[in-house]
Amino acid sequence: MLQKTIALLRAMDQTHLIDHIQSLSAEDQAAMAAQIAELDFSVLSAENAAEGRGHFEPLYAAALKNNAENRDIYMKTGLEAIRAGKVGAVMLAGGQGTRLGFDKPKGTLDIGLTRELYIFECLINNLLEVTKAAGTFVPLFIMTSIDNYDDTRSFFEEHDYFGYDSSFVWFFRQEQLPATDPEGRLLLAGPGKIATAPNGNGGWYVSMEKTGILNVIRERGIEWLNVFAMDNVLQRIADPCFIGAVIGSGMTSGAKVVAKAAPDEKVGVICLEDGRPSIVEYYEMTDEMRSRREPDGTLSYNYGVILNYLFRVDKLDETLHVRLPLHRAFKKLRCMNEAGEIVFPDEPNAYKFETLALDMVKLQDNCLAYEVDRSREFAPIKNKSGVDSVDTARALLRENGVIL
Ligand code: UTP
Repeated sequence: MLQKTIALLRAMDQTHLIDHIQSLSAEDQAAMAAQIAELDFSVLSAENAAEGRGHFEPLYAAALKNNAENRDIYMKTGLEAIRAGKVGAVMLAGGQGTRLGFDKPKGTLDIGLTRELYIFECLINNLLEVTKAAGTFVPLFIMTSIDNYDDTRSFFEEHDYFGYDSSFVWFFRQEQLPATDPEGRLLLAGPGKIATAPNGNGGWYVSMEKTGILNVIRERGIEWLNVFAMDNVLQRIADPCFIGAVIGSGMTSGAKVVAKAAPDEKVGVICLEDGRPSIVEYYEMTDEMRSRREPDGTLSYNYGVILNYLFRVDKLDETLHVRLPLHRAFKKLRCMNEAGEIVFPDEPNAYKFETLALDMVKLQDNCLAYEVDRSREFAPIKNKSGVDSVDTARALLRENGVIL
Protein backbone atom coordinates (compact mmCIF):
# COMPACT_ATOMS: atom_id res chain seq x y z
CA MET A 1 0.00 0.00 0.00
CA LEU A 2 2.73 2.46 1.00
CA GLN A 3 4.74 1.76 -2.14
CA LYS A 4 1.64 2.32 -4.26
CA THR A 5 0.96 5.65 -2.52
CA ILE A 6 4.56 6.75 -3.00
CA ALA A 7 4.39 5.86 -6.69
CA LEU A 8 1.18 7.88 -7.01
CA LEU A 9 2.70 10.90 -5.25
CA ARG A 10 5.67 10.68 -7.59
CA ALA A 11 3.43 10.44 -10.65
CA MET A 12 1.52 13.51 -9.47
CA ASP A 13 4.75 15.41 -8.88
CA GLN A 14 4.03 15.68 -5.17
CA THR A 15 7.33 14.28 -3.99
CA HIS A 16 7.49 16.68 -1.01
CA LEU A 17 4.91 14.43 0.65
CA ILE A 18 7.00 11.28 0.32
CA ASP A 19 9.37 12.15 3.19
CA HIS A 20 6.38 13.13 5.25
CA ILE A 21 4.47 9.88 4.80
CA GLN A 22 7.62 7.89 5.45
CA SER A 23 8.10 9.70 8.76
CA LEU A 24 4.70 8.54 10.07
CA SER A 25 3.84 5.49 12.18
CA ALA A 26 2.54 2.47 10.26
CA GLU A 27 -0.99 3.27 11.41
CA ASP A 28 -0.80 6.91 10.31
CA GLN A 29 0.79 5.89 7.02
CA ALA A 30 -2.17 3.63 6.34
CA ALA A 31 -4.61 6.43 7.19
CA MET A 32 -2.85 8.88 4.89
CA ALA A 33 -2.65 6.29 2.11
CA ALA A 34 -6.38 5.68 2.49
CA GLN A 35 -7.14 9.42 2.27
CA ILE A 36 -4.95 9.72 -0.83
CA ALA A 37 -6.69 6.76 -2.45
CA GLU A 38 -10.06 8.42 -1.92
CA LEU A 39 -9.35 12.00 -2.96
CA ASP A 40 -10.01 13.34 -6.45
CA PHE A 41 -6.68 14.67 -7.68
CA SER A 42 -7.92 15.62 -11.13
CA VAL A 43 -7.76 19.20 -9.80
CA LEU A 44 -3.99 19.00 -10.16
CA SER A 45 -4.21 18.71 -13.92
CA ALA A 46 -5.68 21.52 -16.01
CA GLU A 47 -8.10 18.98 -17.52
CA ASN A 48 -11.28 20.47 -16.17
CA ALA A 49 -10.13 24.04 -15.68
CA ALA A 50 -12.57 26.82 -16.51
CA GLU A 51 -11.30 28.62 -19.56
CA GLY A 52 -12.26 29.73 -23.04
CA ARG A 53 -15.57 31.51 -23.38
CA GLY A 54 -17.94 31.63 -26.32
CA HIS A 55 -19.76 34.43 -28.06
CA PHE A 56 -21.71 36.66 -25.69
CA GLU A 57 -25.00 38.42 -26.39
CA PRO A 58 -27.39 40.22 -24.06
CA LEU A 59 -30.21 38.25 -22.45
CA TYR A 60 -33.35 40.24 -21.85
CA ALA A 61 -34.82 40.14 -18.39
CA ALA A 62 -38.32 40.22 -16.98
CA ALA A 63 -37.85 43.70 -15.57
CA LEU A 64 -39.25 45.15 -12.34
CA LYS A 65 -42.12 46.95 -14.07
CA ASN A 66 -43.31 43.77 -15.79
CA ASN A 67 -43.00 41.81 -12.58
CA ALA A 68 -45.00 44.37 -10.61
CA GLU A 69 -47.76 44.44 -13.23
CA ASN A 70 -48.06 40.66 -13.28
CA ARG A 71 -47.57 40.17 -9.57
CA ASP A 72 -51.03 38.73 -8.83
CA ILE A 73 -50.93 36.10 -11.54
CA TYR A 74 -47.33 35.11 -10.72
CA MET A 75 -48.19 34.91 -7.04
CA LYS A 76 -51.19 32.67 -7.69
CA THR A 77 -49.22 30.26 -9.89
CA GLY A 78 -46.31 30.19 -7.46
CA LEU A 79 -48.45 29.57 -4.38
CA GLU A 80 -50.31 26.78 -6.18
CA ALA A 81 -47.01 25.05 -6.98
CA ILE A 82 -45.86 25.42 -3.36
CA ARG A 83 -49.15 24.10 -1.98
CA ALA A 84 -48.98 21.14 -4.36
CA GLY A 85 -45.57 20.30 -2.81
CA LYS A 86 -43.78 20.82 -6.10
CA VAL A 87 -41.18 23.28 -4.79
CA GLY A 88 -38.17 22.63 -2.58
CA ALA A 89 -35.47 25.04 -1.42
CA VAL A 90 -31.74 24.32 -1.22
CA MET A 91 -29.58 26.45 1.05
CA LEU A 92 -25.92 26.57 0.11
CA ALA A 93 -24.20 26.76 3.47
CA GLY A 94 -20.97 24.88 2.85
CA GLY A 95 -18.71 27.90 2.33
CA GLN A 96 -15.83 28.68 4.63
CA GLY A 97 -16.48 32.41 4.70
CA THR A 98 -12.77 33.17 4.77
CA ARG A 99 -13.22 36.84 3.88
CA LEU A 100 -15.42 37.36 6.92
CA GLY A 101 -12.96 35.49 9.09
CA PHE A 102 -15.58 34.03 11.44
CA ASP A 103 -14.49 30.71 12.85
CA LYS A 104 -17.91 29.03 12.92
CA PRO A 105 -20.48 28.45 10.16
CA LYS A 106 -21.27 31.92 8.77
CA GLY A 107 -25.00 31.44 9.30
CA THR A 108 -24.47 31.23 13.06
CA LEU A 109 -23.16 34.81 13.20
CA ASP A 110 -25.27 37.06 15.41
CA ILE A 111 -25.81 40.35 13.60
CA GLY A 112 -28.37 41.74 16.06
CA LEU A 113 -27.70 44.89 18.08
CA THR A 114 -30.42 44.99 20.70
CA ARG A 115 -31.34 41.32 20.43
CA GLU A 116 -29.97 38.10 19.02
CA LEU A 117 -30.48 37.88 15.27
CA TYR A 118 -28.53 35.22 13.44
CA ILE A 119 -27.94 35.06 9.70
CA PHE A 120 -29.73 31.69 9.52
CA GLU A 121 -32.60 33.22 11.48
CA CYS A 122 -32.98 36.06 8.95
CA LEU A 123 -33.28 33.48 6.17
CA ILE A 124 -35.82 31.37 8.02
CA ASN A 125 -37.85 34.48 8.86
CA ASN A 126 -37.95 35.34 5.15
CA LEU A 127 -39.04 31.82 4.26
CA LEU A 128 -41.69 31.79 6.98
CA GLU A 129 -43.42 34.72 5.26
CA VAL A 130 -43.92 32.48 2.24
CA THR A 131 -44.97 29.40 4.17
CA LYS A 132 -47.54 31.48 6.06
CA ALA A 133 -49.01 32.76 2.79
CA ALA A 134 -49.00 29.24 1.32
CA GLY A 135 -50.32 27.56 4.46
CA THR A 136 -47.67 24.84 4.18
CA PHE A 137 -43.97 24.44 4.84
CA VAL A 138 -41.51 24.20 1.98
CA PRO A 139 -39.03 21.30 2.10
CA LEU A 140 -35.67 22.87 2.91
CA PHE A 141 -32.39 21.10 2.13
CA ILE A 142 -29.31 22.56 3.78
CA MET A 143 -25.92 21.81 2.28
CA THR A 144 -22.98 22.09 4.64
CA SER A 145 -19.31 21.26 4.35
CA ILE A 146 -17.98 18.20 6.12
CA ASP A 147 -16.44 20.45 8.77
CA ASN A 148 -19.48 22.59 9.54
CA TYR A 149 -22.16 19.88 9.35
CA ASP A 150 -22.39 19.14 13.09
CA ASP A 151 -22.22 22.78 14.15
CA THR A 152 -24.87 23.82 11.63
CA ARG A 153 -27.22 21.03 12.52
CA SER A 154 -26.92 21.48 16.26
CA PHE A 155 -27.33 25.25 15.87
CA PHE A 156 -30.69 24.74 14.18
CA GLU A 157 -31.69 22.24 16.84
CA GLU A 158 -30.66 24.51 19.74
CA HIS A 159 -32.72 27.32 18.24
CA ASP A 160 -35.73 25.15 17.53
CA TYR A 161 -35.30 25.76 13.81
CA PHE A 162 -36.34 29.38 14.42
CA GLY A 163 -39.98 28.31 14.25
CA TYR A 164 -39.66 26.22 11.09
CA ASP A 165 -41.07 22.68 11.07
CA SER A 166 -37.99 20.47 11.46
CA SER A 167 -39.68 17.61 9.64
CA PHE A 168 -39.35 19.77 6.52
CA VAL A 169 -35.59 20.23 6.93
CA TRP A 170 -32.79 17.95 5.71
CA PHE A 171 -29.04 18.48 6.03
CA PHE A 172 -26.47 17.02 3.67
CA ARG A 173 -22.74 17.30 3.19
CA GLN A 174 -20.88 18.44 0.12
CA GLU A 175 -17.60 16.93 -0.94
CA GLN A 176 -14.07 18.17 -0.42
CA LEU A 177 -11.23 18.63 -2.89
CA PRO A 178 -7.52 18.88 -2.18
CA ALA A 179 -5.98 22.35 -2.03
CA THR A 180 -2.52 23.43 -3.11
CA ASP A 181 0.03 26.14 -2.41
CA PRO A 182 0.75 28.71 -5.18
CA GLU A 183 3.30 26.30 -6.70
CA GLY A 184 0.72 23.57 -7.08
CA ARG A 185 2.00 21.47 -4.18
CA LEU A 186 -0.57 19.71 -2.03
CA LEU A 187 -0.83 21.15 1.47
CA LEU A 188 -1.10 19.28 4.73
CA ALA A 189 -3.87 19.97 7.24
CA GLY A 190 -1.89 18.21 9.95
CA PRO A 191 0.42 15.23 10.32
CA GLY A 192 -0.61 12.59 7.78
CA LYS A 193 -3.55 14.58 6.49
CA ILE A 194 -3.83 16.28 3.12
CA ALA A 195 -5.53 19.67 3.37
CA THR A 196 -8.88 19.79 1.60
CA ALA A 197 -11.61 22.38 1.18
CA PRO A 198 -15.30 22.26 0.19
CA ASN A 199 -15.64 21.74 -3.57
CA GLY A 200 -17.58 24.94 -4.27
CA ASN A 201 -21.28 25.66 -4.48
CA GLY A 202 -21.75 24.04 -7.91
CA GLY A 203 -21.68 20.50 -6.58
CA TRP A 204 -24.94 20.72 -4.68
CA TYR A 205 -27.09 18.56 -6.95
CA VAL A 206 -24.43 15.87 -7.29
CA SER A 207 -24.00 15.92 -3.51
CA MET A 208 -27.76 15.57 -3.12
CA GLU A 209 -27.56 12.46 -5.22
CA LYS A 210 -24.53 11.02 -3.42
CA THR A 211 -26.05 11.56 0.01
CA GLY A 212 -29.40 10.03 -0.97
CA ILE A 213 -31.31 13.32 -0.61
CA LEU A 214 -32.56 13.00 -4.17
CA ASN A 215 -34.68 10.10 -2.97
CA VAL A 216 -36.58 12.55 -0.78
CA ILE A 217 -37.05 14.86 -3.76
CA ARG A 218 -38.37 11.97 -5.86
CA GLU A 219 -40.57 10.47 -3.16
CA ARG A 220 -42.19 13.83 -2.48
CA GLY A 221 -42.65 14.62 -6.17
CA ILE A 222 -40.71 17.89 -5.96
CA GLU A 223 -40.44 19.36 -9.46
CA TRP A 224 -38.61 22.64 -8.84
CA LEU A 225 -35.64 23.50 -6.67
CA ASN A 226 -34.86 27.04 -5.57
CA VAL A 227 -31.17 27.12 -4.73
CA PHE A 228 -29.76 30.13 -2.89
CA ALA A 229 -26.77 31.52 -1.03
CA MET A 230 -27.03 31.70 2.75
CA ASP A 231 -25.04 34.91 3.12
CA ASN A 232 -27.64 37.30 1.70
CA VAL A 233 -29.83 38.19 4.67
CA LEU A 234 -32.54 39.68 2.43
CA GLN A 235 -32.69 36.55 0.28
CA ARG A 236 -36.30 35.78 -0.63
CA ILE A 237 -36.60 32.02 -0.59
CA ALA A 238 -39.24 30.09 -2.56
CA ASP A 239 -40.58 33.47 -3.67
CA PRO A 240 -44.01 32.63 -5.16
CA CYS A 241 -43.81 35.50 -7.68
CA PHE A 242 -40.46 34.31 -9.01
CA ILE A 243 -41.67 30.70 -9.16
CA GLY A 244 -44.93 31.73 -10.83
CA ALA A 245 -43.09 33.86 -13.40
CA VAL A 246 -40.74 31.02 -14.34
CA ILE A 247 -43.52 28.43 -14.55
CA GLY A 248 -45.69 30.84 -16.56
CA SER A 249 -42.83 31.57 -18.95
CA GLY A 250 -42.50 27.89 -19.85
CA MET A 251 -38.76 28.14 -19.28
CA THR A 252 -36.84 25.43 -17.48
CA SER A 253 -34.90 27.67 -15.12
CA GLY A 254 -34.88 31.12 -13.62
CA ALA A 255 -32.34 33.45 -12.07
CA LYS A 256 -33.05 36.35 -9.77
CA VAL A 257 -31.12 39.36 -10.99
CA VAL A 258 -30.58 42.95 -9.90
CA ALA A 259 -29.81 45.95 -12.09
CA LYS A 260 -26.15 46.88 -11.85
CA ALA A 261 -25.39 49.89 -9.68
CA ALA A 262 -22.80 51.11 -12.22
CA PRO A 263 -21.45 49.82 -15.56
CA ASP A 264 -18.22 48.67 -13.89
CA GLU A 265 -19.80 47.01 -10.85
CA LYS A 266 -17.99 43.78 -10.04
CA VAL A 267 -20.83 41.31 -10.45
CA GLY A 268 -21.40 38.35 -12.73
CA VAL A 269 -23.95 39.32 -15.37
CA ILE A 270 -26.54 37.08 -16.98
CA CYS A 271 -26.28 36.88 -20.76
CA LEU A 272 -26.39 34.44 -23.66
CA GLU A 273 -23.22 32.57 -24.51
CA ASP A 274 -23.32 30.76 -27.83
CA GLY A 275 -27.09 31.00 -27.60
CA ARG A 276 -27.40 29.46 -24.13
CA PRO A 277 -28.11 31.26 -20.88
CA SER A 278 -24.86 31.95 -19.08
CA ILE A 279 -23.12 34.23 -16.62
CA VAL A 280 -20.19 36.36 -17.64
CA GLU A 281 -17.88 37.45 -14.83
CA TYR A 282 -17.10 41.17 -14.60
CA TYR A 283 -13.43 40.58 -15.41
CA GLU A 284 -14.38 38.65 -18.56
CA MET A 285 -16.32 41.58 -20.03
CA THR A 286 -14.73 43.87 -22.59
CA ASP A 287 -15.11 47.65 -22.22
CA GLU A 288 -17.47 47.53 -25.20
CA MET A 289 -19.71 45.03 -23.38
CA ARG A 290 -19.58 47.01 -20.15
CA SER A 291 -20.75 50.24 -21.76
CA ARG A 292 -23.07 48.93 -24.48
CA ARG A 293 -26.58 50.29 -24.19
CA GLU A 294 -30.00 49.38 -25.57
CA PRO A 295 -32.07 51.95 -27.55
CA ASP A 296 -33.94 52.83 -24.33
CA GLY A 297 -30.65 53.69 -22.62
CA THR A 298 -30.36 50.69 -20.28
CA LEU A 299 -27.11 48.76 -20.20
CA SER A 300 -27.20 45.73 -22.50
CA TYR A 301 -25.34 43.69 -19.86
CA ASN A 302 -27.24 45.11 -16.94
CA TYR A 303 -28.38 42.28 -14.73
CA GLY A 304 -26.18 40.85 -12.02
CA VAL A 305 -26.96 37.47 -10.47
CA ILE A 306 -27.50 37.15 -6.71
CA LEU A 307 -27.16 33.38 -6.34
CA ASN A 308 -30.85 32.64 -6.28
CA TYR A 309 -31.89 30.23 -9.03
CA LEU A 310 -34.86 28.05 -9.82
CA PHE A 311 -34.19 24.76 -11.62
CA ARG A 312 -36.51 22.07 -12.90
CA VAL A 313 -35.62 18.74 -11.30
CA ASP A 314 -36.03 16.65 -14.47
CA LYS A 315 -33.61 18.97 -16.26
CA LEU A 316 -31.14 18.78 -13.37
CA ASP A 317 -31.28 15.00 -13.63
CA GLU A 318 -30.16 15.25 -17.23
CA THR A 319 -27.07 17.18 -16.16
CA LEU A 320 -26.00 14.92 -13.29
CA HIS A 321 -23.22 13.30 -15.30
CA VAL A 322 -21.78 16.62 -16.57
CA ARG A 323 -18.52 17.74 -14.98
CA LEU A 324 -18.72 21.44 -14.27
CA PRO A 325 -15.63 23.54 -14.94
CA LEU A 326 -13.27 23.94 -12.00
CA HIS A 327 -12.43 27.44 -10.85
CA ARG A 328 -9.30 28.14 -8.83
CA ALA A 329 -9.81 30.53 -5.95
CA PHE A 330 -6.90 31.87 -3.90
CA LYS A 331 -8.14 31.89 -0.31
CA LYS A 332 -7.06 31.42 3.27
CA LEU A 333 -6.81 27.83 4.44
CA ARG A 334 -5.79 26.44 7.80
CA CYS A 335 -2.83 24.16 7.25
CA MET A 336 0.42 22.83 8.66
CA ASN A 337 3.56 24.82 7.91
CA GLU A 338 7.02 23.41 7.35
CA ALA A 339 7.80 23.69 11.05
CA GLY A 340 4.89 21.35 11.72
CA GLU A 341 2.68 24.07 13.26
CA ILE A 342 -0.99 24.41 12.35
CA VAL A 343 -1.59 27.97 11.20
CA PHE A 344 -4.53 30.00 10.00
CA PRO A 345 -2.96 32.64 7.77
CA ASP A 346 -3.88 36.34 7.69
CA GLU A 347 -3.53 36.40 3.93
CA PRO A 348 -4.65 33.94 1.22
CA ASN A 349 -2.20 31.05 1.02
CA ALA A 350 -3.92 28.29 -0.91
CA TYR A 351 -5.65 27.52 -4.15
CA LYS A 352 -9.02 25.93 -3.55
CA PHE A 353 -10.83 24.26 -6.43
CA GLU A 354 -14.49 25.00 -6.79
CA THR A 355 -17.34 24.34 -9.14
CA LEU A 356 -19.91 27.14 -9.19
CA ALA A 357 -23.70 27.06 -9.16
CA LEU A 358 -23.72 29.74 -11.85
CA ASP A 359 -22.15 27.28 -14.30
CA MET A 360 -25.28 25.15 -13.99
CA VAL A 361 -27.26 27.87 -15.76
CA LYS A 362 -25.36 27.16 -18.95
CA LEU A 363 -26.53 23.57 -18.86
CA GLN A 364 -30.15 24.73 -19.11
CA ASP A 365 -31.93 25.26 -22.42
CA ASN A 366 -33.22 28.61 -21.28
CA CYS A 367 -33.46 30.78 -18.21
CA LEU A 368 -35.82 33.52 -17.14
CA ALA A 369 -33.82 36.43 -15.75
CA TYR A 370 -36.21 37.88 -13.20
CA GLU A 371 -35.36 41.32 -11.92
CA VAL A 372 -35.83 42.13 -8.25
CA ASP A 373 -35.27 45.32 -6.30
CA ARG A 374 -31.77 45.13 -4.85
CA SER A 375 -32.61 47.34 -1.89
CA ARG A 376 -35.20 44.76 -0.86
CA GLU A 377 -33.51 41.50 -1.76
CA PHE A 378 -29.76 41.88 -1.78
CA ALA A 379 -27.75 42.30 1.40
CA PRO A 380 -24.80 39.93 1.20
CA ILE A 381 -22.35 39.52 4.06
CA LYS A 382 -18.94 38.71 2.62
CA ASN A 383 -16.38 40.97 4.26
CA LYS A 384 -15.38 42.07 7.75
CA SER A 385 -15.86 45.73 6.87
CA GLY A 386 -16.65 48.01 3.93
CA VAL A 387 -18.74 46.70 1.03
CA ASP A 388 -20.94 43.68 1.59
CA SER A 389 -20.20 43.56 5.29
CA VAL A 390 -22.25 43.17 8.46
CA ASP A 391 -22.62 46.97 8.59
CA THR A 392 -24.01 47.31 5.07
CA ALA A 393 -26.34 44.35 5.65
CA ARG A 394 -27.60 45.85 8.92
CA ALA A 395 -28.39 49.14 7.18
CA LEU A 396 -30.37 47.29 4.51
CA LEU A 397 -32.19 45.15 7.06
CA ARG A 398 -33.17 48.31 8.92
CA GLU A 399 -34.45 49.89 5.69
CA ASN A 400 -36.61 46.81 5.27
CA GLY A 401 -38.10 47.17 8.72
CA VAL A 402 -36.14 44.44 10.49
CA ILE A 403 -35.42 45.23 14.13
CA LEU A 404 -31.79 44.62 14.95
P1 UTP B 1 -18.78 32.35 -1.47
O1 UTP B 1 -18.41 32.19 -2.88
O2 UTP B 1 -18.93 33.74 -0.95
O3 UTP B 1 -17.71 31.54 -0.61
O4 UTP B 1 -20.11 31.55 -1.21
P2 UTP B 1 -17.48 31.39 0.96
O5 UTP B 1 -16.63 30.20 1.14
O6 UTP B 1 -18.78 31.41 1.71
O7 UTP B 1 -16.71 32.71 1.39
P3 UTP B 1 -15.20 33.20 1.11
O8 UTP B 1 -15.09 33.36 -0.38
O9 UTP B 1 -14.28 32.16 1.66
O10 UTP B 1 -15.14 34.49 1.86
C1 UTP B 1 -21.36 31.89 -1.77
C2 UTP B 1 -22.38 30.90 -1.25
O11 UTP B 1 -22.04 29.57 -1.63
C3 UTP B 1 -21.89 28.75 -0.47
C4 UTP B 1 -21.64 29.71 0.68
O12 UTP B 1 -21.98 29.12 1.92
C5 UTP B 1 -22.51 30.88 0.28
O13 UTP B 1 -23.86 30.63 0.60
N1 UTP B 1 -20.79 27.80 -0.68
C6 UTP B 1 -19.57 28.25 -1.08
C7 UTP B 1 -21.03 26.47 -0.48
O14 UTP B 1 -22.15 26.06 -0.11
N2 UTP B 1 -19.99 25.60 -0.69
C8 UTP B 1 -18.76 26.00 -1.09
O15 UTP B 1 -17.87 25.14 -1.27
C9 UTP B 1 -18.55 27.37 -1.29
